[in-house]
Amino acid sequence: MSLPKRIVLVGPMGAGKSTIGRMLARELGYRFLDSDRIIEERCGANIPWIFDVEGEDGFRQRETTMLAELSGYPQTVLATGGGAVMREENHDLLKRDAVVVYLKTSIEQQVERTRRDRNRPLLQNDDPEAVLRNLFAIRDPIYTELADIVMFTDRKSPRLVVRQLVNRINPRTPRHKRQIRKEGRNHA
Ligand code: S3P
Repeated sequence: MSLPKRIVLVGPMGAGKSTIGRMLARELGYRFLDSDRIIEERCGANIPWIFDVEGEDGFRQRETTMLAELSGYPQTVLATGGGAVMREENHDLLKRDAVVVYLKTSIEQQVERTRRDRNRPLLQNDDPEAVLRNLFAIRDPIYTELADIVMFTDRKSPRLVVRQLVNRINPRTPRHKRQIRKEGRNHA
């Protein structure tokens, strides 16, 4: 089995998609893309501002446009926003040429990892834990349905998650071959 063209990470806020995605990309010699960060760069504003001014609908429209563009980039690891699975039209864009990985995380871990975050508008309220629980109930079945691989991240270091993912994605790629691929990319 050879490496897939793209690896797409889905899962809730606080699952570690960006951290794990960046490390996984480095390990495979792929380019790392973070859909939320690219939306912010293109828009010249952060996500809270986009939610404030354009509403969640405005953000979701930008997200769909971004996913469509990024679905065409080969040799990439894409970290998506937690709500990217909510529009059905995004599903084909997420799955296109990709292995989809669901980074599954307990509510407790999500709460812990997002506790001091001010960049997630959906959690800026009195009871972010209730919001995370509610979102989990709605989204977990969708993440699961879309995913080729479900990977639990609780009580695992990002490094361990990445090692387990590399084994699941392509168990037969020896380390030295990954290194060669990586060097090839650096010289491209
Ligand atoms: C959202 C998750 C965020 C970001 C936006 C909405 C969501 O991304 O896209 O705040 O609906 O769950 P992360 O999952 O990277 O935090």
